[in-house]
Order: sequence, then C-alpha cells, then structure tokens
Amino acid sequence: MQRQDILYLNQKDVINCGGLNMAHVISDLEKVFELHNKKDYVLPPKVALRWGDMHSEETIGRINAMPGYVGGEVDIAGIKWIGSAPQNPHKYGLPRASALIILNDSEKHFPIAVMDGTIISAMRTGGVTGVAAKYLARKDSTVAGIIGAGTQNRTQLMALKEILPKLSTVKVYDIMKERSITFSKEVSQALQLEVVPVSSGQKAIEGSDVIVTATTAKEPVVKAEWIGEGCFYSHIGGYEAEFAVVEKADKIVVDDWYQIKHRGTQTTAMMFEEGKLNDSDIFAEIGEIITGKAHGRENNKEFIYFNAIGLALDDIIVANRIYNNALEKGIGTTLELWEKPIWS
Ligand SMILES: NC(=O)c1ccc[n+]([C@@H]2O[C@H](COP(=O)([O-])OP(=O)(O)OC[C@H]3O[C@@H](n4cnc5c(N)ncnc54)[C@H](O)[C@@H]3O)[C@@H](O)[C@H]2O)c1
Repeated sequence: MQRQDILYLNQKDVINCGGLNMAHVISDLEKVFELHNKKDYVLPPKVALRWGDMHSEETIGRINAMPGYVGGEVDIAGIKWIGSAPQNPHKYGLPRASALIILNDSEKHFPIAVMDGTIISAMRTGGVTGVAAKYLARKDSTVAGIIGAGTQNRTQLMALKEILPKLSTVKVYDIMKERSITFSKEVSQALQLEVVPVSSGQKAIEGSDVIVTATTAKEPVVKAEWIGEGCFYSHIGGYEAEFAVVEKADKIVVDDWYQIKHRGTQTTAMMFEEGKLNDSDIFAEIGEIITGKAHGRENNKEFIYFNAIGLALDDIIVANRIYNNALEKGIGTTLELWEKPIWS
C-alpha cells in the first residue's frame, strides 16, 4: 500500500481519548522516567526560537521545538512545537501556551499523527509533579501553597490530589488578584478542594506541606525563610526560587540535569552557571528514585526540592497513548499525506 495517512486530533478529540485522565498521565510518566533511567530514549536538547535574550522569554515569549524518541515497548518518536506568549492571558484572555504534537513511527519514520498538544503539555507537567510527590512528599500532606493561578497550576493540583489523599486545603497567590480569585472558585469546584486566594507569596508558602510555583515571574517569588521542615517543593517555572531555597534543600531532585543546564533558564541552572551549584549537589534524577537506585523521602523532616525542566519524552509517551486510544475508538480526522509518493 502506497497511500500515507495522518490522523489529526483536535483538542476535543484529545479529551475524548483520555487527555484529562491524570491517573493515566502519571502512570505514563512513571514509565517514561524508568526508560530515561535505562537510557532507552533519544532526546536532543530543546531548541528555543526567541526574539531576544533568555529573559525575553518571560516578556515577549518563545516557540520551543522539542523532539524525542521513547524506547521500550512504547517505541515512538515525535516532536512538540509549543508557542508561549506570557502576555496572552492578560492582553487577550487566551492561553499562554499553544502546542502541536507530531508522532512518527520508529521504522519508516513517517508522520502518523498530528494533534493538539496544549492539553497534553499541561497534563504531563502536572503529572511530573505527581510522580515526584509520590516519592518525595510527605504522605500526610494536607496543605498546599501555590504561586501562579494559571494553566499549569490547575494540572499541578489535579496531580497532587491524585497522589496525596489527605490534601484538603490549597492557598493560591497570583500577582493578578482577580486571577487567583477566579482560579480558586473554578478549581475548588472541579477538584473538591478548599482553594483560597491569599494576598502574598509568603502567605501561600508558610505552613504549607507542598509548594508549587508555576508563574511567568521575572524574579524569585519564593524565599528560603518561608519554607518549613518536611516540605516538598516542585519548581515548574523559570527563575522563581531564590538561590537560598536550593541551598536550604536536604535533597535536590531533578527530571534531567543535563537538559536543565542546557536550557539555562531555571534557578538551578543559573546557580550552576555562576559556580554556586555543582553536579555532585544533585541528589538524584527522579528515574533513579523510581527504579530504587536512590532513596526518595527518608523522614518527615527533609525539605526536598524538585526541579523539572519538562522533557519531550513526557509529551510523546502521553500523545502515543492518546493516539492509540483514538485508533481503538475511531476518533479523529484522517488526512491524506499522499495517495502515492511521487518519488521513491
Ligand atoms: N517545567 C515544565 O515542564 C513547564 C511546563 C509548562 C510550563 N512551564 C512554565 O510554567 C510557567 C507557568 O505556565 P502557565 O501555563 O501556568 O502560565 P499562565 O500564563 O497561564 O500563568 C502564569 C501566572 O503567573 C502569574 N504571575 C506572573 N508573575 C507573577 C509573580 N511575580 N508573582 C505571582 N504570580 C505571577 C501570572 O499572572 C499568571 O496568572 C511558565 O513559565 C512556563 O514556561 C514549565
């Protein structure tokens, strides 16, 4: 057969194929971090298309190209092409991020699917924190403090709720007060948690068992002195934690230290660049903990700092599950790439 088709899945299709199922996303990610630990993947560094220096990403924005191959029985390649314009929510009432994912088969390397990646990207970012919380947060965590009332913190809370059964209260701070108010109303209802807006980052962080920052802040929003004993902190955005936060941690755990350093935008990478953090200061990558090569949380007193840069592998494994669900359910639109290749 010569004809080559592509399956196109719009956002509604992705949702109908399980795009919002956080439990499945968390289990996909656990699998991908195991493969990452076995080095059964290919992951070229992200390419950032931007219109200025690194700091312009939080003002003008960027478009990232994130290719990768996931090995094992998953055996699929792909790329996420994701635009980010931090001004979108405030200026247009639109999402900051918008993404497409393309999947390619691992034999002929033909494109087989194109889909909305916006939901997949947000869900996998929450899912990464979910996996990390499973191994690094206190099981009895009840209070979360989050900074940033945007898309990512919605999925962060979906994942924390999935992993921490005693989680009951969430304090949320956003520089735009009305965003924290709307977020609190919507997320309280959607997740059956008590989500309350607070008037400062300090109020969100102090007394919280779990902390997440997912903002477009241009300078740190978390101070070391606000963080209590036994806390788990998942750092999602860029330069959100002051250096002293990382220095205070009993354990620093990451998704992929090489990729964090290459990207250069987050606190740990900046500290490395300035000679204030060494490779040996990284306690483990999360895959080492999942596979039992390194310990996760060992007592209720440790402050564990987790930093994920986000990997194309995360997107591709989730997109592949969505694609297979779509084939099984007959969802999506078939697009012809060619009826017959004109050259071979
Ligand atoms: N590590 C990863 O894998 C990963 C994945 C996706 C997104 N991100 C990053 O997460 C961040 C948030 O993404 P999003 O989609 O939720 O964006 P968003 O625009 O939907 O939300 C960001 C929120 O941060 C708030 N904010 C900005 N400056 C602030 C400050 N100083 N204090 C408090 N709040 C502030 C904004 O008002 C906004 O509500 C972005 O930097 C993005 O690049 C990381």
